[in-house]
Amino acid sequence: MPDDLHSKAPQRFATRVTHVSRPGVRNHGFVNGGVHRGSTVLYPSCEARGTINAAGFEKHALTYGTSGGPTHFALEDAIAEIEGGTRCLIVGTGLAACAVPLLAFLKAGDHCLIPDSVYGPTRRLADGLMTGWGIETTYYDPTISGDELQALMRPNTRVLYTESPGSHTFELQDIDALAAVAHAHGAKVLMDNTWGIHHYQPFKHGVDVSIQALTKYVGGHSDVLLGSVTVNNEEDWHTVASAGRFMGHYASPDDCWLALRGLRTMAVRLKHQEEAGLEVARWFEQQPEVFRVLHPALPSHPQHALFKRDFTGACSLFGVVFQPRYTPAQLEAAVDSLRLFGIGASWGGYESLALPTTNYVTRTATDAAALGGPTVRFHIGLEDVRDLIADLSTALATLPR
Ligand SMILES: Cc1ncc(COP(=O)(O)O)c(C=O)c1O
Repeated sequence: MPDDLHSKAPQRFATRVTHVSRPGVRNHGFVNGGVHRGSTVLYPSCEARGTINAAGFEKHALTYGTSGGPTHFALEDAIAEIEGGTRCLIVGTGLAACAVPLLAFLKAGDHCLIPDSVYGPTRRLADGLMTGWGIETTYYDPTISGDELQALMRPNTRVLYTESPGSHTFELQDIDALAAVAHAHGAKVLMDNTWGIHHYQPFKHGVDVSIQALTKYVGGHSDVLLGSVTVNNEEDWHTVASAGRFMGHYASPDDCWLALRGLRTMAVRLKHQEEAGLEVARWFEQQPEVFRVLHPALPSHPQHALFKRDFTGACSLFGVVFQPRYTPAQLEAAVDSLRLFGIGASWGGYESLALPTTNYVTRTATDAAALGGPTVRFHIGLEDVRDLIADLSTALATLPR
């Protein structure tokens, strides 16, 4: 196999994740790259030390362990390629990937806009540390139009943060329209693209910085925590990479290697999970106990037209709103009775999950009660869908008639 095979980018996603960032024949001929662990990087001479350190932010520059090594670089290149960006910074968790660009682009006196449907810990960062450092946040309705966003922009608005669909409530955002307004005001557009993975190509829609919790489908096996921050130009790379490094963010090369391994099977897992998720979501829509299903790929979703315009597919995470006559406690009892679904938060693994979310949704700019009833978030794994539906049927039967 020629060593340069992998530089000739194949077209389709499954082919790309199979071939991207592999060592070719350089790793003693083995298919997979090695795990390169290291703190000290040895310089060939004192003079070379200066030259090498000066190249610190250049691609694949080896200066010190915290700047990454070959295993980090392989994963960084793979994620940048999947997201359609130029450079990627790997950090220790998905949450760190949310925090690093926020703290990189904002300083005291700045204003930031965050969707009301944002991932909870990102809200905690904004309300806590960022507020303490004199950065003001306005939460906005994630479904606002460009014109409505215009009214929220201030002279000191430096960041428009987006997450589409929103955590737990699954609203989609018209990123193209919002990014146009943000850019006209000189603000950066950050996006948590964890749900979209490769189905949403952020840089084609005006995003400047794309965030992924690689913990989810890339890791794919519920055994690794990692995050990525991808950018599309050198200036943004310097801003993000210097903030990440100055704060000492780092990820274990062992975890990067696990993520690279997860990536190789991600296309088939995602395809199966997308179809299985939709099958379960459609089944839920038929159940009398269900008020509505929050899944962007279903025609019943309020922003389904945006989904069809912008996404090439879906992952297997969605919400189910139950009839308002049920109490959160009754639903929790039904969830407790499930045999195949774990009760847990981190999705994207091979196993199915059910998580009651009614009491965990914080809203300050929109009304959480507008969902219409108590909600449970489902993640569909790799089990046989027929077994999952049978398990869910039994659980729904425990709800009072
Ligand atoms: C949308 C979203 N972003 C970021 C994260 C954070 O990822 P991690 O668990 O790796 O910190 C999560 C985790 O659940 C998430 O759901």
